[in-house]
Amino acid sequence: MYEELLKQIDANKLPQHVAIIMDGNGRWAEERRLPRTFGHRVGVASVKAVIKVCLELRIKYLTLYAFSTENWARPKNEIDALFKLLQEFLRKERKRLQKEEIKLNVIGRWRELPAKVVKSITSVVEETRNNSKLILNIALNYGGRQEIIDAINKGIENGEKDFSIETLQKYLYTSGIPEPDLLIRTSGECRISNFLLWQIAYTELYFTKVYWPEFREEEFLKALIAYQRRERRFGKI
Ligand code: FPP
Repeated sequence: MYEELLKQIDANKLPQHVAIIMDGNGRWAEERRLPRTFGHRVGVASVKAVIKVCLELRIKYLTLYAFSTENWARPKNEIDALFKLLQEFLRKERKRLQKEEIKLNVIGRWRELPAKVVKSITSVVEETRNNSKLILNIALNYGGRQEIIDAINKGIENGEKDFSIETLQKYLYTSGIPEPDLLIRTSGECRISNFLLWQIAYTELYFTKVYWPEFREEEFLKALIAYQRRERRFGKI
């Protein structure tokens, strides 16, 4: 199946930047009478699968929505489990990130996260900062509106007075990173949920009913094939 789908990929029409709203971990688990946190754990395997495909196809930027500013409303045990999974991912995968030349970049107000989490992120970000094969952006304590507000405030601090599109972009968390060509959301929800509001102005959107824990290599290839069939016009005719 994977090989069959791979044959349909046109290497010259791949997105440079893919962003993903990884949704449906909770429902996937609940449908199986498993704890929601188990869904998140299986979701980490999907994260690894998507990274693998990006490396193989040389997709250079991948941005994953792992924790939104709204996620603080979840039960404490679920929030704790998510941060534990993230730390486990960083601990177990740091060698591989180096070996595969992946640069970890975290976006959002992540410095407000628990000190232990901030520490492990900082150390992996530092360690991988010279890598450039894949830029892996993980959005943590991220909100799109907050990002725009943070950008304006940073600009003002820096003496900016008259904001143009280019000026504001300089202060976004994603400054220097091209806008996503493709945004994927799993689990059947068709919303943006405050993700990359500024950056997705011309992004192609792809929604699938598949829950995130089941979004593996084949599903990602299907999304890329759907993207390749689209005609992108950027407002032109
Ligand atoms: C959405 O499912 C998923 C999340 C809020 C968290 C995603 C986090 C991971 C996959 C693990 C850690 C990430 C990395 C990068 C290692 P949901 O709980 O909203 O599902 P539901 O809508 O079915 O309840």
